[in-house]
Amino acid sequence: MPSPPSTPTSAAPKRPIGVFDSGLGGLSVLRALRAELPFEDFVYVSDSGHAPYGERDDCFVIERAHVITQYLLAQHQIKALVMACNTATAATIHLLRAQHPTLPIIGVEPALKPALALSKTRRIGVMATRGTLGSAKFQALLASLADQADFVCQPCDGLAYAIEHQDTPEIIAGVARYTGLMGQFGLNSGDIDTLVLGCTHYPFATQTFRNLLGPQVQLIDNGEPVARQTRRVLPVLSAPDNPGQCRLLCTGDASALQQAAQRWLQLDDPVETLKR
Ligand code: DGL
Repeated sequence: MPSPPSTPTSAAPKRPIGVFDSGLGGLSVLRALRAELPFEDFVYVSDSGHAPYGERDDCFVIERAHVITQYLLAQHQIKALVMACNTATAATIHLLRAQHPTLPIIGVEPALKPALALSKTRRIGVMATRGTLGSAKFQALLASLADQADFVCQPCDGLAYAIEHQDTPEIIAGVARYTGLMGQFGLNSGDIDTLVLGCTHYPFATQTFRNLLGPQVQLIDNGEPVARQTRRVLPVLSAPDNPGQCRLLCTGDASALQQAAQRWLQLDDPVETLKR
């Protein structure tokens, strides 16, 4: 049983929670975090200047995660880190935890267990980046559950990039291409009835998935479970005085993050540029 977080106290200095992703995808996790922890401050880093991560090698992703974590600790004194990126979690979370043993670090991984709890046909689709699906961490998770369902895993090169660039024709083409490669979706025996969105960018294409797959296929992402887990491991909760603040920073072109933050989280403050 994890120990409960300390009682909120207004005397405690308010330190933010750091959140990062290769781009705007982690906003799907930030949205859930703000709903679960409305009095916490957040600093979100979009590393879009170095995206996408999903088709890069581990060394590259490890270096980026290291640079961003150091920055968030040194410049923002974060009290916890949420890696809102499946690819970065798979490649680096064990290393970051070893380097920062006193910092609570929460990662995301494709939600296979929640999908198992929902699937009736026992045929489950998993869409994620090539990096996530090829990682030792994901392969171990898959092996531990392989006797309970058929998992159809599909790497989706280019899909996070299309979502990052709000390229609607490419998003529709990518979702159609990759779901088409996975086989039949539906509720009949042998159909995929549950689809795990194993990249934090993909929830922003939910409508496209719905249009192509119909309303009956269950789409699973992990924003809400990650937000609940963050609450459980936080050492100190902020006092319920003022609503939490949110700063958005970006290593690349800020316009996509700005538009997505306005549209999905109603955040209007200007995105700050980060030279890292
Ligand atoms: N959003 C990231 C994830 O959850 C990956 C996107 C990318 O390829 O950079 O894996």
